[in-house]
Amino acid sequence: MYGVLLLLAADFGFSSGVRTLDIGAPAADFVASSCADCHEAEYAGWRASRHRASLTNRIFVAGFAAESEARCVRCHAPLPEQFAEVMAANRDLTKLPAAALGHEGVTCATCHVRDGEAHGNDALKSDALCGSCHEFAFHEKKRGRLVLTDTPIQSTYSQWLEYGATGRTDSCISCHMNGGHDIRGAHDVELLRRSLDVRIDRERMWLASRGVGHRFPTGDVFRHLTVEVRVGDEWIEIARIGRRYAPAENRDGTYSMRLVEDTSLAPDVPRSIEIPAGATEYRIHYRYDEDGSEAVLVVRAGLP
Ligand code: HEC
Ligand code: HEC
Ligand code: HEC
Ligand code: HEC
Ligand code: HEC
Repeated sequence: MYGVLLLLAADFGFSSGVRTLDIGAPAADFVASSCADCHEAEYAGWRASRHRASLTNRIFVAGFAAESEARCVRCHAPLPEQFAEVMAANRDLTKLPAAALGHEGVTCATCHVRDGEAHGNDALKSDALCGSCHEFAFHEKKRGRLVLTDTPIQSTYSQWLEYGATGRTDSCISCHMNGGHDIRGAHDVELLRRSLDVRIDRERMWLASRGVGHRFPTGDVFRHLTVEVRVGDEWIEIARIGRRYAPAENRDGTYSMRLVEDTSLAPDVPRSIEIPAGATEYRIHYRYDEDGSEAVLVVRAGLP
């Protein structure tokens, strides 16, 4: 709740996908390549980042094909020109022209240009800027209109406020922009490996996150970790670490998504998992359910 109040106080023009973003100038005046001459390092970092591909990466393209809602575009590529391109391509992202601004996803202007000015507002370089996209609620259709519900679908910002409330001072920016604009996260397998601490004895395993300023996993709902052990010839899943939502009936007979389980790892709180008798090996996967892909974090390490 606290997080939501703070977010409302910091208005950067993002609207949880309700509207496109007004930067006070045509986007064509501020394309990323126009900044490159003077800001070479920022440009190179951003080019390599997931933000640059937030509308056109494989996982988003698959997700959007299954659920082609206008609001998705207004967050993954918030500029009005980007939105118009997607509509002109009949919401088929594979049909975006090569020169489309949509290929810039969350671009320089999205974070830095307001009122037609490229370098003005210091508040734009704050954690609240990150929070204004990395925290939002489910939408529902009510009598034909799109409304925001009170169920968060992503709550990275309030998770980080909780982390800060225990006295820690690391910020989105200090952790994620240490190396500049190549902001990394759930697609950097080495980072994921470093972020997971596994301790194990004969009967139990303890999983904890390491150096993460929010829950692990956070962000997109389709991500989770699975822990599997081998008993004889069979691999058995013994834990699922992440969030699960399910539709629940409202009093008026309509349905809303509700959080039914959250087993994601809170900072510094190890989760204890019982190991079944006879287990000889274990492995841990990080899964991206949208397209069924997965990354192996720990493989076939022997059990003590
Ligand atoms: C002709 C060179 C030039 C171009 C092109 C240029 N900038 Fe800059 N920019 C500068 C200089 C010089 C500074 C440092 C002085 C200042 O703050 O104005 C700066 C500073 C900045 C800052 C930091 C301001 C602060 O408060 O510390 C940001 C953010 C920025 N530029 C973004 C952009 C973006 C985004 C673009 C492309 C749309 C861009 N710039 C294009 C020269 C340029
Ligand atoms: C997701 C939001 C986001 C995007 C996209 C983004 N920036 Fe930034 N940028 C920031 C933040 C936040 C900071 C402040 C970082 C800090 O304080 O360490 C920053 C800092 C800067 C600075 C000032 C660096 C300094 O030393 O103070 C420049 C210049 C800049 N960005 C240019 C760009 C350019 C050019 C692009 C596109 C190629 C871009 N940014 C894309 C968020 C963004
Ligand atoms: C305009 C909305 C917006 C803003 C502002 C924004 N992000 Fe993002 N961010 C996104 C979207 C959309 C993605 C998903 C990209 C994708 O599809 O993989 C993302 C992805 C990420 C990821 C995951 C990268 C990965 O490899 O999985 C991290 C970490 C991240 N953002 C951090 C930040 C930080 C730190 C800031 C503030 C400096 C910030 N974001 C500002 C929209 C935003
Ligand atoms: C103490 C350092 C730290 C702070 C503070 C922090 N992060 Fe992270 N973040 C990480 C690490 C490490 C990962 C990689 C492990 C993981 O995926 O959780 C990560 C992952 C992510 C991801 C990838 C998605 C996922 O499922 O984990 C996103 C998005 C993200 N951070 C956004 C943010 C935003 C937004 C903030 C501020 C509100 C923030 N982070 C603050 C360290 C930090
Ligand atoms: C309020 C802004 C917002 C809206 C609306 C939104 N997203 Fe996202 N989405 C994000 C952010 C921020 C992330 C990054 C979280 C992370 O990396 O963990 C993200 C991540 C994703 C990812 C994961 C991408 C990856 O690289 O793993 C998919 C897929 C996705 N969104 C699809 C959608 C679809 C489909 C819709 C519309 C039904 C939608 N999003 C609506 C902000 C939004």
